[in-house]
Parts: sequence; structure tokens; C-alpha cells
Amino acid sequence: MSTVSDTLKIEEVRKELAQLGTTAGGADQLMDGITRILHGKMLKYNWVGFYMLESGTVPPVLVLGHFQGAMTPHTRIPLNQGICGAAASSGKTVVVDDVKNDPRYLACSLETKSEIVVPVFVRGRVTGELDIDSHFPAAFGFEDRELVEFCARLVGKRLEQK
Ligand code: SME
Repeated sequence: MSTVSDTLKIEEVRKELAQLGTTAGGADQLMDGITRILHGKMLKYNWVGFYMLESGTVPPVLVLGHFQGAMTPHTRIPLNQGICGAAASSGKTVVVDDVKNDPRYLACSLETKSEIVVPVFVRGRVTGELDIDSHFPAAFGFEDRELVEFCARLVGKRLEQK
């Protein structure tokens, strides 16, 4: 259940992200800035990172890009593995309230309790995703999902300008 202060915080962070979307010099700067803002401002977002599809790899693999939080053992994830693989291969946001009950989950930290992964689209095709882990169960409600999807759209739009 989100509180009024959660909603206000999300609105404030969304404004900051929208501002970054207009000032970031390129997609890399934008992705780096998004991970810093989300990790720094959203208290339950304990690991925030992008995985991008490696171009030309057959079968395709997700490769760790900009991130904030502890180093993960999962720097390359095939599309048939993990919650990350599920989001990229389906092109749909995946929210997992309790990772220990999801057989797809690839453990990154023993402290992680919940996770959200949102695909990034460029001209209608998945090119990567934004992955967030939380030390709190069911940390990602409707407003969080909207916020993370907003970030993924910002990146997709910027990549389309290349
Ligand atoms: N938990 C992810 C792996 C990436 S780490 O969370 C950073 C998954 O199940 O795909």
C-alpha cells in the first residue's frame, strides 16, 4: 500500500528524471543518471541497473551496463534465464514480490526480496531493460512500476535519436 509521502516522493523523482531526459548529453549519460537518481533517491531501490542486448550475439545475451549497487555475478544473462531473460524475451514488465518463490530468479544478493524488470524498446523492439532489486518484499507497487516504465521510455526515445 503506498502512502501520500510515497506518491510525493515518486512525483519529485519523476520530475528530476524528466529534467535529466532533456539535459543528458546522450543515452549513456542518461542511463548512468537514471541509475544514480533511482538508487540515490528511492530508498527501497537497493540495486538499479541496465542490461542491454548484445548486438550480433546468437543466441542473444543481455549484458550488464550502467548500474548502482553491489557488483552482481550476473554480468551476461541469456534470454532463457532469470527474471531478466523473461522480461526481455516477453517484452513485458515483470514484477516479482517474493523472489524466493519464483523459480526463474537468478540470485544477485542474499538480501534481495523483490524485483522489477522493465524492457526498453527502440522502434518497437526490445533493446535492453532496467532491472531493480529491493531488500524489501513487494517493494514495487503500481506507482513504482509507472516510474520505472517512464525511465525505460526515456532511454528508448533517446536511443531512437541515434
Ligand atoms: N535477478 C536477476 C539477475 C540480475 S541481478 O538481480 C542484478 C534475474 O533473475 O534475472
